[in-house]
Amino acid sequence: MIISFKGVTKIYNSLSGPIKAIDNVSFDIERGEFVSLVGRSGAGKTTLLKIILGQEKPNLGDVFFNGEDVRTIKSSHLPLLRRRIGAVFQDYKLLQTKTALENIVFVLQALGIGDDQIEKDAAEVLNIVELSHRNNNFPAELSGGEKQRLALARALVSRPEVLLADEPTGNLDPYHTQDIIRLLQKVHQIGTTVILATHNREIINNLNQRVITLEEGRIIRDEKEGKFII
Ligand SMILES: Nc1ncnc2c1ncn2[C@@H]1O[C@H](COP(=O)(O)OP(=O)(O)O)[C@@H](O)[C@H]1O
Ligand SMILES: [Mg+2]
Repeated sequence: MIISFKGVTKIYNSLSGPIKAIDNVSFDIERGEFVSLVGRSGAGKTTLLKIILGQEKPNLGDVFFNGEDVRTIKSSHLPLLRRRIGAVFQDYKLLQTKTALENIVFVLQALGIGDDQIEKDAAEVLNIVELSHRNNNFPAELSGGEKQRLALARALVSRPEVLLADEPTGNLDPYHTQDIIRLLQKVHQIGTTVILATHNREIINNLNQRVITLEEGRIIRDEKEGKFII
């Protein structure tokens, strides 16, 4: 079991009062699964992913990563945990003043990897996402689909055990959406655990993988080969 939530509740304090974004949620994800997280806007998908990433802390309940209670992981070890989890978002979050290649190199340098290895790893990961021909282009010069492929390459270059994708196709047309989903499937096939949050019905119904459905912060359905039903 790679990720485990036990009775997790997350309440935000907003100006208009507390908002229960995640309400007593429990589930286990096994290593190597491809899990889609679906539900309407506001259902709690992003909050759940942020809890996995350690960007939000639950008010109640426990979260385990590889059997280890995330709350008790020393703060000095948190960067290590985050390295084991890659993430892509709807808005890509690329470094605009760096080329595609430099966006990747930047991550590898931050990991303290040697120059020879950086060159090899960067070339390899850009090849995996089929973006080698855009190495020297800036994000503004890339199409939406290419930007997301670059974001995916950046998330993968640290060889994470888990890849979180939060509405990765939210800004893409159907053609590029298929492209990104195909790449997520490729990433899954090489052994990465993938968690995909989306409200795109068509994607989910073609995946034939586990689907967890959230509604108002609660899991209302969790099916092995799920369909999108809300
Ligand atoms: N930083 C925040 N402060 C206050 N409320 C928030 C914050 N982030 C999300 N929420 C609220 O929590 C609920 C769940 O949001 P979110 O996790 O973003 O859902 P989803 O990703 O499914 O659209 C929503 O009601 C949203 O308004
Ligand atoms: Mg969201």
